[in-house]
Amino acid sequence: MRNIVILISGGGSNMAAMVQTAVKEQWQKKYNARIAAVISNKAEAKGLIFAREHGIATEVLNHKAFASREEFDTALANTIDKYDSPSIPALVVLAGFMRILTPGFVQRYTDRLVNIHPSLLPAFAGLHTHQRAIDAGCKFAGATVHLVTAELDHGPILEQAIVPILPLDTADTLAQRVLTQEHIIYPRAIASLLCKMSKQD
Ligand code: GRF
Repeated sequence: MRNIVILISGGGSNMAAMVQTAVKEQWQKKYNARIAAVISNKAEAKGLIFAREHGIATEVLNHKAFASREEFDTALANTIDKYDSPSIPALVVLAGFMRILTPGFVQRYTDRLVNIHPSLLPAFAGLHTHQRAIDAGCKFAGATVHLVTAELDHGPILEQAIVPILPLDTADTLAQRVLTQEHIIYPRAIASLLCKMSKQD
């Protein structure tokens, strides 16, 4: 079985979209894959409730309880790897996980660590992407699914979606329009990776 572990910090709407797509598209039957666990660095992350209601194992690992970024990432990796002991899960999916990861962590999951960023990368890496796109006078914004490399919000692009920026848009209205597309492209990108993996079996 290919285990997928999803990391969140908040609402978890991308995670929820992925769980729903996995059921609808029968990832278990098609790709021998399942979403095995949802891990959050915040106990109050709303997405944890959704995950529990859908029978998915959840874990909370509070980054504030660790003395350094390295110690947190080591504990995080140990928690993730429980879901495919003695090896590591097939995919680790970052879905609104608001932590910068250490190079060692990124390297451990090379080619199986995936992120979604709410901009058309390589434009607007980092935070406040929607306001920055509006301020720059962009006519279009979007979202990018990419493999994670050591450089923040970089790495090979797997999927992108484009949305228009409308004259009266605020960061919030734009974020909502982009998020709707995120919910489509993120599960699609993961399904496509799983499909490739199952062809290599
Ligand atoms: C999304 O916009 C995602 O691109 C960004 O953080 C947001 C998370 O939203 N990295 P949600 O928690 O999936 O609802």
